[in-house]
Amino acid sequence: MTALIIDGKQLAQQRRAEWKLRADRLNAAGIAPGLAAVVIGDDPASKVYVRNKIRACREIGIRSEEHALAADSTLDIVLALIDRLNADAGIHGILVQLPLPAQLAPLAVLERMSPEKDVDGLHPHNLGRLLSGHARFVPCTPAGIMEMLKSTGFDLRGKEAVVVGRSALVGKPAALLLLQAGATVTLCHSQTADLAHHTRRADVLVCAIGKAQAIGGEMIKFGAAVIDVGISRSHEGKLVGDVDYGAALQRAGWVTPVPGGVGPMTIAMLLANTIVSAERHAAKQGIAL
Ligand code: GUN
Repeated sequence: MTALIIDGKQLAQQRRAEWKLRADRLNAAGIAPGLAAVVIGDDPASKVYVRNKIRACREIGIRSEEHALAADSTLDIVLALIDRLNADAGIHGILVQLPLPAQLAPLAVLERMSPEKDVDGLHPHNLGRLLSGHARFVPCTPAGIMEMLKSTGFDLRGKEAVVVGRSALVGKPAALLLLQAGATVTLCHSQTADLAHHTRRADVLVCAIGKAQAIGGEMIKFGAAVIDVGISRSHEGKLVGDVDYGAALQRAGWVTPVPGGVGPMTIAMLLANTIVSAERHAAKQGIAL
């Protein structure tokens, strides 16, 4: 058996076409949807991610601005920038690319953002809303994962879902969304005693640990939907995921490629959240779209 590939790039392209129509409508009504991306320091991966996000904005008619701050920026400097963006009526979404340099506590930075502009869904207020089942913005990678699962037609109700990785960015919100969709969820992490014992039972397996090819074929249930969030370099310098892709193709029912899987969907969901934020802004002003 060969798994079906969930083509994140193609799915993102389709979704982006829908969002472009909504961006066009906003622009025509005099509301130019605006995203500010803040990147602090010189992490090469972060710079690439932010560049890709900015390009995607341009393609669908979202106005974007990149704010690059030096690696040694103080908390005061960062908070002053966020205050400015919070107050800027032309900015509907603010994104602070993670990870931050060591001197900056992520919580202090994230909670300074206006929750109404937190299109990454990482403000504690928005994470709390997600927990309570009243999400305002769902974090982009977990939202993209759910869209990919939906595209397979896979009914999550009553299924065993196993998430590997407990970050606030991916693992924890992904587990909550799977739970809300009716799956029985197990959240595994670096201290889980027997990881394979859990993963082998998974009808849906979400891997978000950032360890190259750590999930081997023998850890995958036959026919499972496998979502690979990791992206790292193999010994040969190739970009690979957390899952042994070749082995997953032999065992899984569906699998996401790396690259071209979760990454493009993360960006698509950021665009979606930014458009939604701009639409809410329009509604508050009584502007019909
Ligand atoms: N770093 C890696 N992925 C992400 C993301 O989706 N959002 C932010 N803010 N930082 C990231």
